[in-house]
Amino acid sequence: MAANAPRKILVTSALPYANGPLHLGHMLEQVQTDIWVRFQKSRGHDCLYVCADDAHGTAIMLAAEKLGITPEQHIDNMRALHMADSEGFLIDFANFHSTHSEENEKWSAEIYKRLKANSHIASREITQAFDPEKELFLADRFIKGTCPRCKTADQYGDNCENCGATYSPSDLIDPVSAISGATPVDRESTHFFFRLPEFEAMLKEWLDSDTLQPQVANKLREWTDAGLQEWDISRDAPYFGFEIPGEPGKYFYVWLDAPIGYIASFENYCERTGHAFDEYWQPGGNTELYHFIGKDIINFHGLFWPAMLESAGLRTPTAIFAHGFLTVNGTKMSKSRGTFVNASTYLQHLQPEYLRYYFAAKLSDSVDDIDLNLEDFVQRVNSDVVGKVVNIASRCAGFLKKGFNNRLAPVCAEPELLADAIAAGEQIAELYEKREFNKAIREIVALADRANQYIDEHKPWVLAKEEGREADVHAVCSVGINLFRVLMTYLKPVLPAMAEKSEAFLNISLDWTVLEAPLVDHELTKFKPLIQRIDPKDVEAMVETSRPAEAPAEKTPVAKKKEQQPVDESGTIEFDDFAKVDLRVAKIVAADHVEGADKLLQLTLDVGELGTKNVFSGIKAAYKPEDLVGKLTVMVANLAPRKMRFGVSEGMVLAAGPGGEDIYLLEPHAGAQPGMQVK
Ligand code: MSP
Ligand code: ZN
Repeated sequence: MAANAPRKILVTSALPYANGPLHLGHMLEQVQTDIWVRFQKSRGHDCLYVCADDAHGTAIMLAAEKLGITPEQHIDNMRALHMADSEGFLIDFANFHSTHSEENEKWSAEIYKRLKANSHIASREITQAFDPEKELFLADRFIKGTCPRCKTADQYGDNCENCGATYSPSDLIDPVSAISGATPVDRESTHFFFRLPEFEAMLKEWLDSDTLQPQVANKLREWTDAGLQEWDISRDAPYFGFEIPGEPGKYFYVWLDAPIGYIASFENYCERTGHAFDEYWQPGGNTELYHFIGKDIINFHGLFWPAMLESAGLRTPTAIFAHGFLTVNGTKMSKSRGTFVNASTYLQHLQPEYLRYYFAAKLSDSVDDIDLNLEDFVQRVNSDVVGKVVNIASRCAGFLKKGFNNRLAPVCAEPELLADAIAAGEQIAELYEKREFNKAIREIVALADRANQYIDEHKPWVLAKEEGREADVHAVCSVGINLFRVLMTYLKPVLPAMAEKSEAFLNISLDWTVLEAPLVDHELTKFKPLIQRIDPKDVEAMVETSRPAEAPAEKTPVAKKKEQQPVDESGTIEFDDFAKVDLRVAKIVAADHVEGADKLLQLTLDVGELGTKNVFSGIKAAYKPEDLVGKLTVMVANLAPRKMRFGVSEGMVLAAGPGGEDIYLLEPHAGAQPGMQVK
């Protein structure tokens, strides 16, 4: 593939809203896009990645008002923060623009004009809820009231969080504006619509072509099958956005000008750099256009956008790549668990490449959700990146420096092993191309395993101690370094900073298009550590920082202890593992509330010969502290002390019950004495 003519590729990821900080979910998307773009570049293609902030809409207008600044100031601040976060994650944008830009205003007006000229814009009166105090039309989510079905108060205008009913805001009992608290009134207003039904045939064909993932096409067919509706593209003043040409007081709905922001950002790039522009947006050219997006916005990109482009006489995307949502430890990111992690918080504690690697190891071409399991994250990155890949270089570099002045052997001693690793590159490239990063990583790690195996078999550390084996030490370590070079070339799209350090060490640039010739009789520079192991404490600290101050310190697991893996796949543990647990009868001599924790009690336990122990236990829901004093319980007495937010816990209390309020402790019994072993 590398031999083919370079492709001209334009890539985008979705434009983040300028009303809040970026979080790890946004980074999943940017990292996925960035890896793909860096991969294309590494194969010699001309590939550009543009993005921007999505700066318009009511939410941004209201947020700025709350802060007492203009929307322009607000979106400028946000853009600076977003750019810093993306840079921190090594996202290689050619351009990061804003939808509130000259270029976007021009293109929005132009495309609207073309749509209108083609009779694809309709207008009609609609009735909508209006806040008479704020003088503002209210979108459904800005209206609150009592659910008409279950009568729960304070529900949003479109659905009830309590009973799940969906309704329209006019069905709410006692509706109020969520902005001012005023009772909304109905008001008429002229709105403009994009006549999507006109594109039914075009869209059906588009859904049947291979531009969309099968799951996405199926989902969108539900829309076409149900009959396409006209799309409301206008909003009334006051609105932060672009006024519709020739329609004073009417503004483009944020989702009309947002995707046009892709064109605008690219045009801004072309103006700054002199890069060609037209050939990327005219139909029938030989350029490629890809949008990376999350699964929540496929209708905008898979229906409205291609129809708009078609009407405006512009090219449609080559493909749309949707991904799933990020979950943390198996569930939705949660503020109280400390797993709703902002990009900047992550960067305060951890290196960007840890997460880039982990995401790569999990991302595929599907729209399935991606789980960031914090324990697995630490384990996997440390084991693969540090334990396998870096290990190859670090174990060979020392011998080469000591005995051979950092110079590689004059011939490659294992040409076949190296040739195999190079040949695997085609398969790996194909996997990157298809966004099957998880499989690409699996292949690369398998190659790293083989390289380590080779070194293990030849044991340079043993050879180095034997007389007359210098040439063998030299040969083995030189093969190791050559294999490392190939692996780092494959990993460069995922680990750009580590690749740069490897390039300094190897004294060459890692270039996928010229891998064939091995490095022989080549001088390396001094080996410096390429990346540190993840310290689980840093992950814990990140979780703690992400937790709001008032939330109780629920344990969010981040690290597997080394000897803590006796569990086999069926969940069975060995008898010996159980025998290690020292269970003792303990008497509760004091029980106290813990300031700021709503589940924990602090227990002082008398464990007989073992003395007294301080334990934090999550049984507050079941017991009043005063009822516990004098009771007996069973505790794990040899659990390593654990530092919690409120102090050190020196063991664990065992109690039985379904949880919540039903937890049972032992009743005092004449035969049970504190400190007795439980057998
Ligand atoms: N502004 C629109 C996009 C306009 S594109 C012309 C928007 N912004 S967003 O900030 O809400 O989301 C930006 C991107 O991040 C979307 O592709 C969205 O799917 C993605 N994600 C937001 N939260 C996410 C996760 N928790 N997980 C993965 N991606 C997520 O939508
Ligand atoms: Zn309800």
